[in-house]
Amino acid sequence: MNILLVGGGGREHTLAWKIKQSNLCDQLFIAPGNAGTKQFGNNVVISINDFEGLAKFCIANAIKMLIVGPEEPLVKGIYNFFKENPSTVHIEVIGPSKEAAQLEGSKAFAKAFMDRHNIPTAKYKEFNAASYEEGIQYIRNHPLPIVLKADGLASGKGVIICNNHIEALAEFQLMIQHSKFGEAGKRVVIEQFLDGIEVSVFVLTDGKNYVLLPEAKDYKKIGIGDKGPNTGGMGAVSPVPFITAAYMETVTQKIIKPTIEGLQKEALDYKGFVFIGLINVEGEPFVIEYNCRLGDPETEVIIPRIDNDIIEILSATAQQRLNEINIVINKKTAVTVMAVSGGYPNEHETGKIITGLAGSVLDGTIVFHGGTKQEGDKVLTNGGRVLAVTSFGNTIAEAAEQSNYMLEQIHFDGIYYRKDIGYEFR
Ligand code: AMP
Ligand code: GLY
Repeated sequence: MNILLVGGGGREHTLAWKIKQSNLCDQLFIAPGNAGTKQFGNNVVISINDFEGLAKFCIANAIKMLIVGPEEPLVKGIYNFFKENPSTVHIEVIGPSKEAAQLEGSKAFAKAFMDRHNIPTAKYKEFNAASYEEGIQYIRNHPLPIVLKADGLASGKGVIICNNHIEALAEFQLMIQHSKFGEAGKRVVIEQFLDGIEVSVFVLTDGKNYVLLPEAKDYKKIGIGDKGPNTGGMGAVSPVPFITAAYMETVTQKIIKPTIEGLQKEALDYKGFVFIGLINVEGEPFVIEYNCRLGDPETEVIIPRIDNDIIEILSATAQQRLNEINIVINKKTAVTVMAVSGGYPNEHETGKIITGLAGSVLDGTIVFHGGTKQEGDKVLTNGGRVLAVTSFGNTIAEAAEQSNYMLEQIHFDGIYYRKDIGYEFR
């Protein structure tokens, strides 16, 4: 079948790499893709939010499956757009409906959903302009630290953890009265701070059945030892050493099953990946957030650990036959290290020539592209997060060292990466 993959980051390069290994895939297109995805299919210049353009392309190219990588088109309703249009209704769309994507698109929706289905999460209350004064009182009486969350999508910047009340009050005012996060932040969730280790759990669901995918741990801070500002993710490891089968059983019973049953009970149409951000507080899992897609850079370590044919499992997802699928996860340890542009996550330059890629062939290592673009025979940087170098090994230390070694061969002006990914497990 012909497939269109939507997105253009490291997640999509990894998916393209995996999709191309499937016997079920004829032609693969990626919109808009990057210099890496070109190795596995044809990049097409259509924006991820141009639903009309994507639909037209699908019809013209006999696309049978649309796989949506990023959250934005999902939250904006790409699934509904395809399903409500008679000329695209036959196309299998991997991703939740607009309504179900609210699990990521609205923190207030996600919190209320968890409350309705008794899913463990931090205690919270939501406020808006109408309940502003009440919010002020709530913050004054709240123990420290206090977590403030803009309701809508805010490119990973909408969560603020405050260590004193004055800062929390100021942030709350900025969000509600001065639209700090635009419309996304005019509704604010204020929640209890949970102290523990985070882990990302991934599930693929057809809305009724689900399969568990490998877990991962993401390193969000820019600096060595988890210091400095947050980023989209500087690296990831999978499996996560402290995640035992018994812990996953607890997560399954308390979180995954009630989530999938909740979707079904509320008739929320969901055929896609669910990314559950967990925090482990004294051995008990709590949900920090839901995302309605795979993570980046988590995809770069979890997808290579799945031995199944990806299109076979995605077809089963679209056709609500995931109960027929046995997921086979290999025992390899995978580590990905993200090379970013100098200055990221703040202002940074792009358009720098990347060298050393041609020689970057090493057994047990794959260089996935994030923000890159091809110009003639040159590969240029085209974003903050540029390359995700995934390696496999017997241990986290071995895999991480191999990725670091590979990155020593690659160069672009301003290149930076964390040499300590997986440090607490080495
Ligand atoms: P989110 O955008 O929801 O993923 O939140 C970003 C980050 O903020 C998470 O990865 C956590 O590290 C942190 N965070 C969010 N909510 C809480 C909470 N209730 N307690 C502690 N940390 C939190
Ligand atoms: N790495 C975190 C995310 O994809 O949201």
